[in-house]
Amino acid sequence: MTNQIPAALPTREAAWAVLIEFTQNPSLLKHALAVESCVRAYGEQQAEQLGLAGEDAAALVELYSATALLHDFDYERYPSAEEHPYVGNRILEQRGWPAELRHAIMSHAGYTGTPRVSHLDKVLFACDELAGFLTACALVKPTKSIHDVEVAGVKKKLKDKAFARGVNREDVINGAKELGVDLDRHIAFCLAAMQRDAEALGLAGIPAEQTT
Ligand SMILES: [Fe+2]
Ligand SMILES: [Fe+2]
Repeated sequence: MTNQIPAALPTREAAWAVLIEFTQNPSLLKHALAVESCVRAYGEQQAEQLGLAGEDAAALVELYSATALLHDFDYERYPSAEEHPYVGNRILEQRGWPAELRHAIMSHAGYTGTPRVSHLDKVLFACDELAGFLTACALVKPTKSIHDVEVAGVKKKLKDKAFARGVNREDVINGAKELGVDLDRHIAFCLAAMQRDAEALGLAGIPAEQTT
């Protein structure tokens, strides 16, 4: 026996196991997957920009994926602002998840006062609300396909306060700003990521004959 906490490898697979241990709600699972899609794509871009290759690149991308999958994993059980994401953070710490992942998760909720410092912190915050918004944009298409969503339409809907009112527009705009990415480019980037993963996100669309 040892007192040392076994360090959990921050892999996508390990994160998914924790997520489904705590979360049954299909919408929350879909949200986690949509955010992951965008965050993972930024992780891939970051690995390339840092000149990482092979295992190092793969490890960075897995960390980004795991962080996104876990950012709301405690929400179903502990939804209040007193608990989420504090309780989740403690559980992850006990289980040996790395500080950089937990810091990003703490910093996605502005009310924790945890500053967003790292690229991962900023990416998670920038993708959280936008991923939900892009999902909403896809679901109002007759085809329910993310492939039919375009940047111009997304921007128009961001200005329409009645559409997807749960999505905080300021967070979307500030998220891109903090990340240092032009809003249009950020939307296009996340849209492309979600289109790539459309099947897994349940947003690949329905056959035309079923749309009427
Ligand atoms: Fe959250
Ligand atoms: Fe979230």
